[in-house]
Amino acid sequence: MCCYFFEYYLFRLYFQRCRRTISKIKLGYMLIFFSMIGLLEFFGAFVHIFEITYDENFVYPYEGNVHEFVNALRRNEKPEVKPINEYAYDFILKQPQKCKGDADNTLRLVYIVKSAVENFDRRTAIRNSWGIEKRFFDVPARTVFVVGTHPDDKVEAKLKQEAGIHKDIVQADFIDSYYNNTIKTMMSFKWLVKYCTNSKFYMFVDDDMYVSAKNVVTFIRNPANYPFLLMESRKVYGAQKREIKQSDLMGYNEVNFNKNIIYDRKTKTPTPPGFIVRESTGNNSQKNVYKKSDGKSNESLTIKNEYSLNTSMPIRVKRQLFDLELPDDIRLFAGFVFMRSSPHRHKFSKWYVTLKEYPYHLWPPYVTAGAYILSKEALLDLYYTSFYTKHFRFDDIFLGLVAKKADIVPFHCEEFHFYKKAYTKYSYKYVITSHGYDDPGELLQIWNEQKALGNA
Ligand SMILES: *[C@@H]1O[C@H](CO)[C@@H](O)[C@H](O)[C@H]1NC(C)=O
Ligand SMILES: *[C@@H]1O[C@H](CO)[C@@H](O)[C@H](O)[C@H]1NC(C)=O
Ligand SMILES: *[C@@H]1O[C@H](CO)[C@@H](O)[C@H](O)[C@H]1NC(C)=O
Ligand SMILES: *[C@@H]1O[C@H](CO)[C@@H](O)[C@H](O)[C@H]1NC(C)=O
Repeated sequence: MCCYFFEYYLFRLYFQRCRRTISKIKLGYMLIFFSMIGLLEFFGAFVHIFEITYDENFVYPYEGNVHEFVNALRRNEKPEVKPINEYAYDFILKQPQKCKGDADNTLRLVYIVKSAVENFDRRTAIRNSWGIEKRFFDVPARTVFVVGTHPDDKVEAKLKQEAGIHKDIVQADFIDSYYNNTIKTMMSFKWLVKYCTNSKFYMFVDDDMYVSAKNVVTFIRNPANYPFLLMESRKVYGAQKREIKQSDLMGYNEVNFNKNIIYDRKTKTPTPPGFIVRESTGNNSQKNVYKKSDGKSNESLTIKNEYSLNTSMPIRVKRQLFDLELPDDIRLFAGFVFMRSSPHRHKFSKWYVTLKEYPYHLWPPYVTAGAYILSKEALLDLYYTSFYTKHFRFDDIFLGLVAKKADIVPFHCEEFHFYKKAYTKYSYKYVITSHGYDDPGELLQIWNEQKALGNA
């Protein structure tokens, strides 16, 4: 009996020790296991697993063909299906006269500047640099600032005073904050559609951007050839006086803004993209030109200009060289484009999005928000299509979603620098915009220097 107890005791002791060792090991493994899980979770690995493939499955509410409804809205008729998304904020400051007043009442370019109530100095610097409305006598332009509301009454009062003097501030009744940027953007659209449809182009810019007004004007003459046109400008403009030689046309006749393809509203066929540019066969091919843009181009920023390499489109438009004006019905949505980029899935990112918010593994093609140019036709189509696009809090993604619904493919140009392009006197010749000029003094200094060099 005693032996039995003794054996039992020994056995228990042994067993317990084993168990303790095992549980120690187990604890260690468990710790490693869970921290791995935690890490993976942090970097969004599990979210990635549940992402839906963009290419085959992409739909975004409203899920249906919206072209009919958009056309109805544009004709001021009642659409079959009621809009699902509207930004119904009031305008506190309206400036209804801002775009009026010229003899024939047509403008070429309207800068619509996304500003914040408290950025008084930035607005002053813009009014005295790239925002000067009479910069070019043959380019009637306007500069308008769009803001939300500020909680501080003193700041608000100062804004009202500024608006009284310059009459160029549009204020809408929503709280001005980062995650309300989509509201600000769409209220800008709303204002333009309501009070300012007499311009051919609209440039949306943040108030911390350097803009070369001169390069903008060149770009909108012929986006596909920018900045090639600028480099060759003497030759091209000189050609008007000379006899046309076949050699002058080399490399140009590949450029195709095929109007018929883009603009097929009547037949209601799903229309292929905005416009299509083929790679040039000449020695001054666009590709080479783009590569020059800046040395510090980062792997992660490298973008494939996919739509510029389409070889199945018919060649047309030899007149392109001499007819340096885009047709009125062109749907241009241009800027720095990300064709295929993925949502941020690691928590604590400023741009973290949940699967519920957006379930696909890629964003639609989108133009980075700091600066982009729209033609009037694109403005109207995007505005009315936004009525059938579920709200999204990042404004550039939202416009990408809207553009996809409207069948507008964004047009990529590297000279819209969404980061701060390293400045030297000679590195900004072809720059259309550069981010990172939140210091008004610096903006003025650089803009004036570039203007003196003939680059701004
Ligand atoms: C956005 O603006 C609306 C309307 O003023 C406000 O209710 C909301 O809190 C704002 N959102 C953020 C994130 O500031
Ligand atoms: C490019 O230029 C070189 C010399 O300048 C010439 O020999 C060649 O034929 C040109 N190529 C094309 C495609 O025009
Ligand atoms: C590329 O970008 C990443 C992240 O923005 C940065 O950490 C890295 O230094 C950059 N590389 C170069 C060569 O500029
Ligand atoms: C070229 O255009 C055709 C017709 O629009 C399209 O099917 C094809 O995918 C395009 N190719 C590229 C490389 O974009």
